[in-house]
Amino acid sequence: MTVMEALQALDQIVDESDPDVDFPNSFHAYQTAEEIRKVYPGLDWLQLVGLLHDIGKILILWGEPQWCVVGDTYPVGCKFQDSIVYRDSTFSDNPDLKDPRYR
Ligand SMILES: [Fe+2]
Repeated sequence: MTVMEALQALDQIVDESDPDVDFPNSFHAYQTAEEIRKVYPGLDWLQLVGLLHDIGKILILWGEPQWCVVGDTYPVGCKFQDSIVYRDSTFSDNPDLKDPRYR
């Protein structure tokens, strides 16, 4: 499989962990690369990273469960940022949310 074939394979994947997005992940790959190009036109390597950053999600097509290969990750041991999508429902059962050291 070539990299372009892998990007095309993202057409078959909608990331269920991103509830505010309902389009194929290939769109997200090109949108990310295009936005990086606008902001950092001289950093072609970074544009490429933006294009490829979610390419591992194609593992879903070989039976890997979505929760294993999609979704956001967050640093631990600090306050969860208010900018996290669905922050409250995502972390409502996380004991760190109630730990005063992380507020
Ligand atoms: Fe992404």
